[in-house]
Amino acid sequence: MNKITVVGAGNVGATVANVLAHKDIVKEIVLLDIKGDVAKGKALDSWQQAPIDYYSTRLVGSEDYADTANSDIVVITAGVPRRPGMSRDDLITTNAKIVVSVTKSILEHSPNPTIIVVSNPLDVMTYAAFKASGLPDTKVFGMAGILDTARYRAFLASALEVSPKDIQAVLMGGHGDTMVPLPRYTTVAGIPVTEMIADADLDAIVERTKKGGGELVKLMGTSAWYAPGAAAAQMVESIIKDEGRIFPVCARLNGEYGLDDIYLGVPVQLGKDGIAKVIELKLNDDEQALLTDSANHVKDVIATFKGMNLI
Ligand code: NAI
Ligand code: 2OP
Repeated sequence: MNKITVVGAGNVGATVANVLAHKDIVKEIVLLDIKGDVAKGKALDSWQQAPIDYYSTRLVGSEDYADTANSDIVVITAGVPRRPGMSRDDLITTNAKIVVSVTKSILEHSPNPTIIVVSNPLDVMTYAAFKASGLPDTKVFGMAGILDTARYRAFLASALEVSPKDIQAVLMGGHGDTMVPLPRYTTVAGIPVTEMIADADLDAIVERTKKGGGELVKLMGTSAWYAPGAAAAQMVESIIKDEGRIFPVCARLNGEYGLDDIYLGVPVQLGKDGIAKVIELKLNDDEQALLTDSANHVKDVIATFKGMNLI
């Protein structure tokens, strides 16, 4: 049975821990935060839910990295979320320092963890964790694509009045307004979505998806947590169970899609050791152009990170 650490016991981190506990597939979850009492309180609250919802996973709150020792998987959600009017990229100054220091502290106590980054700006924070960790790139990746695809699927389910269960889709690119939903790879119970919806309505859903995070920030004054937390927990589950599932994941590219040494959302197969395979789709010229544009945006933010000289 496995040990999982979730760093950051805020909205997203506490949700990851709680959703994961409900899956009842790991022995222990350590919820770590610089606000140790908040982490302890949320872990205790989740543990007191166990007799009601029937799970055995133990939850422990802490501010001490010694308690994270020998974690198999670490989910990093530490950092500040965006407020109305901010882009994800505006968070880099604060969050890069946090993600680098968290990653180094984790590695002091867990020699070979798989790291899933959630903190924003996601693609660059995943790159930062990879550089700070010294781990192979198959073991350091980020969560965004499952969330962005879920938003796309949910909007389509509403528009088509079908169950979201029946909508399958792929979405690529950075976790920002340049993300690339792919209607050509979207189906409703196996039927191409383009046969089910007018072009203009599909275009509107693609645009709403790209700004899906911002829509929630405007409504709530901070960013989302239920779907993000469930998405990260789904990645953990897939790794723990070695299901070989295919998800859009923020992964390091080594020549795939004509891109090198960059973290970007692409379809990957997850296995017990992390990324088993990056799947290279045959994009058409328009899709490749959108992906390259998104990659260029991420490269600019990586350049800002490199300029901070944190590693
Ligand atoms: P939050 O403010 O509710 O929680 C963040 C937590 O991190 C706080 O409890 C804070 O005390 C903790 N923290 C700060 N510095 C720390 C450190 N050095 N060590 C340990 N803990 C530390 O924020 P929320 O809503 O949970 O969001 C967390 C991050 O996740 C944000 O950067 C947000 O933008 C990002 N996010 C990413 C998504 C994605 O799809 N990748 C989706 C939603 C949020
Ligand atoms: C989201 O997409 C803010 O990245 C966060 O909800």
